[in-house]
Amino acid sequence: MKDVLSYGLGTLVGFGLVLGVLFIFIQDITQKKHGVLRNYPVIGHLRYWFEELGEYFRQYFFSGDRDEMPFNRATRGWVYRLAKNEGGTIGFGSTYDLHDPGALIFVNHPFPVLDEDRLPTPSLLLGENYCRQPFEAKSIINISGMSFGAISAPAVRALSRGAHTAGCWMDTGEGGLSPYHLEGGCDVIYQIGTAKYGVRDAHGGLSEERLVELGRVVKAFEIKLSQGAKPGKGGVLPGAR
Ligand SMILES: Cc1cc2nc3c(=O)[nH]c(=O)nc-3n(C[C@H](O)[C@H](O)[C@H](O)COP(=O)(O)O)c2cc1C
Repeated sequence: MKDVLSYGLGTLVGFGLVLGVLFIFIQDITQKKHGVLRNYPVIGHLRYWFEELGEYFRQYFFSGDRDEMPFNRATRGWVYRLAKNEGGTIGFGSTYDLHDPGALIFVNHPFPVLDEDRLPTPSLLLGENYCRQPFEAKSIINISGMSFGAISAPAVRALSRGAHTAGCWMDTGEGGLSPYHLEGGCDVIYQIGTAKYGVRDAHGGLSEERLVELGRVVKAFEIKLSQGAKPGKGGVLPGAR
């Protein structure tokens, strides 16, 4: 009895399916709106289905991490992590395709560029409208902050001399100014970190006298708000500081 019932049910379902396909077939070959469906009745519907699914396939399977606009997967992943409080700090290493034509990379030049082929680098004037002595930054490539202490006296000395020869500036980092920074005669930018190291008064506050004193020998002050370059633990400083 059970067998007969399931056999009957199966036949009914099969019959219904055939009827459904037949109905779609007739509908497709008689309609005049879609050429694809008229030429490929029934299976032509797959095209619309795949077209709809394609968006998800592309998004999850085929698109590279940096492929989509306006927000690519890399950016979205970062936002999701932040939203879930999983931390937004990511390690270094470019995920851009640096071999793509037009990718911006800096490479060594095998031979020095001839003077007649060189274009002067436009300098950048800082504090033009509000400083008695604006700072003219002549180079776009400079030496970023590395505290004296984190690097040794000979290293600071070498960088200072090198910066002078190259015509670029050197940043002190948040470890204060040492005589070695000034030795080479390059432009020096004094970095004021959250600890205000080197610019504090006896009570730990910001010392104006010290700033004036330093202002006579350095070209500019840089206030460091947070640490960007700290792989691993991340560099966002506590708000209280
Ligand atoms: C030894 C060392 C000390 C550093 N000290 C400072 C610092 O005092 N202040 C700062 O803003 N960055 C500091 N940095 C970070 C560098 O200025 C720079 O942002 C970082 O090294 C990333 O640049 P890079 O990829 O060219 O090395 C230091 C880096 C190093 C390697």
